[in-house]
Amino acid sequence: MRKKSAFVTAAIVIAVATLTNCSKMLPKMIDPNYGVCGPVSLSSAQSVLFAQGNDQFFAIRTASTGLGPYFVSTGCGECHSSDNRGHPFTMLTRFGQTDSTGNTFLAKGGPQLQNACLPGFTSQQIPDGASSSKFIAPITAGVGFLELIPDSAILAMAAANVNNPDGVRGHPNYSSIPPYVTPFANAIPRADGKYICRFGRKAATYDLLQQVATAYNHDMGITSTFMPFNPYNYLDQTAPSSPSIPDVDNTTLNSVVFYVRCLQTPNQRNANDPTVMNGNQVFVNLGCETCHKQTLTTGYSPIDGLSYQTISPFTDLLVHDMGQGLDDGYTEGNAKTSEWRTAPLWGLGLAAGVQGGSYYLLHDGRAHSIEQAIQMHGGEAAESVTRFNSLSPGDRNALLTFLKSL
Ligand code: HEC
Ligand code: HEC
Repeated sequence: MRKKSAFVTAAIVIAVATLTNCSKMLPKMIDPNYGVCGPVSLSSAQSVLFAQGNDQFFAIRTASTGLGPYFVSTGCGECHSSDNRGHPFTMLTRFGQTDSTGNTFLAKGGPQLQNACLPGFTSQQIPDGASSSKFIAPITAGVGFLELIPDSAILAMAAANVNNPDGVRGHPNYSSIPPYVTPFANAIPRADGKYICRFGRKAATYDLLQQVATAYNHDMGITSTFMPFNPYNYLDQTAPSSPSIPDVDNTTLNSVVFYVRCLQTPNQRNANDPTVMNGNQVFVNLGCETCHKQTLTTGYSPIDGLSYQTISPFTDLLVHDMGQGLDDGYTEGNAKTSEWRTAPLWGLGLAAGVQGGSYYLLHDGRAHSIEQAIQMHGGEAAESVTRFNSLSPGDRNALLTFLKSL
């Protein structure tokens, strides 16, 4: 925030007032000091950087440390407690339909609603005529591995679907990338200069640097050299005309990128249990594995623990048409309104435990059990759901036992 000096001087008052005024006070659901997965194996220098990033990830920002004036929450760890899936308490809202020129509501503060603000400002509202979508936080553990899946592997998974008899298609989300992002060495851009993106519910974000810089900016109103403008609120007519002094320095921001990048993958439990093994086979037989890919291999990384690793994320990083029920009228990149990135399933069985005992699955947490999440699949996944509905009780139990072991 920092540009408005009046608010810097009143920082301490604001820090307290903010949370009772525009923002929701969030309950702490678990020990906020550490996630559940820990890092991949790191050198001692890398461990120091990871620990710094860990502290910053769980730090609470206030006006004096750059928060606002418009924001959604006060820290990464508020929405990503436990490094697993998020809670509806910290759901965020995006708005604006995208056409060939981009989001048509950018002039009205799109794409993200900052529903909290510092005193003296106005909470942003969804402008008339804008369609909107709600997103809860996806699992952060393992994202460093997903960043390393080569474009060639993603394209091969899309190509393999072309004649899929269930009608599974799926395509990469090609989007423009911001100037501060360096394309991967093995990137395969499209002729129009757009790149295969992979993070976010609609896979519209390129890499973890873009993800973290955008989170600081859109979720907390924290500027950086990468995103130097505070979010705009059309209700206040305070268009940020010049870049702000960065609220977060590059060293700090990069330590947070390093922290999420090095998070270990969630490990499957009871993999050799006969029911789990049977359930894994049912998962394949139903056609779930067509989208939720069990085995992927990372490319080269200077961090040994991430380099050329075989992982089981249960995603293809493609976006799929999931039918009318999951169509919320909001687009990103070239993902249409009903298209979503195949949600990784790793860590699924641990999700309820870290969210107070309940599941909040799918992009907006609308599914409160694994069965519900499956039954809400439509579109390209309709055939696999039909098969799921006619499973014998024994096979259904095996499938659910398998999914809970992830
Ligand atoms: C208000 C809640 C909220 C806050 C605060 C927040 N995030 Fe997120 N995060 C989300 C949501 C929701 C998504 C999905 C975004 C999308 O679909 O584009 C996400 C996506 C991500 C992802 C990508 C996961 C994936 O598989 O695609 C990473 C990594 C991440 N956030 C890290 C961070 C970091 C680091 C911070 C702090 C700088 C942060 N987040 C702050 C809610 C939040
Ligand atoms: C056509 C591709 C496709 C097929 C086939 C498919 N899924 Fe999914 N699955 C998805 C997508 C896309 C999402 C995310 C939807 C959203 O975010 O709203 C998802 C989400 C999920 C989730 C919720 C995960 C979370 O963390 O929120 C579960 C559980 C799941 N699928 C299980 C299954 C099972 C079991 C099958 C087989 C019966 C299956 N899926 C078949 C694409 C598919």
